[in-house]
Amino acid sequence: MRLAFLGAVAVPIVVFGIAAYAAVSQSTATAAPDQNASPIYGVTIPDGYRDWKFVAPAQEAPPLDELRAVLGNDIAIDAYKSGKLPFPDGSILVKLAYKRMQSTEFPPATVPGTPTTVQVMVKDSKKYPDSHGWGFGRFIDGKPVDIAQHETCLACHTERVKDHDYVFTRYAP
Ligand code: HEC
Repeated sequence: MRLAFLGAVAVPIVVFGIAAYAAVSQSTATAAPDQNASPIYGVTIPDGYRDWKFVAPAQEAPPLDELRAVLGNDIAIDAYKSGKLPFPDGSILVKLAYKRMQSTEFPPATVPGTPTTVQVMVKDSKKYPDSHGWGFGRFIDGKPVDIAQHETCLACHTERVKDHDYVFTRYAP
């Protein structure tokens, strides 16, 4: 009699305990920061970006001494082509950078050397109201760089290209 009573109480307690544990461990799993997402903005490298359309090349003088290419997803490319500013939500721009290297096959030519960074700008005006609707991410070997570097993105893009929705690159014909 007493054992039956204990069972009736203990079973629900154990079941409740397991359910509560599962709920807590699930909520901590979703709250854990994504190691692949940029600090401040939570931007990740978008899937399939390497096959996106080409916007324009760029080059930076030493000491960085890089060759760059900016690519855009379809939403960004459509906005460029129709001259639509600001870029609509869902636009993503990716900048690929490489060390500049002299061609061994034809010395006057410059070719991409070691890849250095992949940089991403994602337009989402609801998610990023404090950065003019843009989220930023800079990645080395697929991993986001530190918060200090991410604190620099907004200032430079805001100060210099306010009139072009904070985007430097224009569509190259
Ligand atoms: C000191 C100025 C400066 C800072 C800081 C800076 N950028 Fe830029 N960014 C540029 C310039 C200039 C370009 C144009 C392409 C080029 O010259 O490489 C550019 C281009 C880009 C592009 C391609 C779209 C566009 O605006 O042309 C992305 C994406 C980008 N930057 C991301 C970032 C991220 C992420 C950070 C911070 C981690 C950052 N930038 C910090 C100057 C800056």
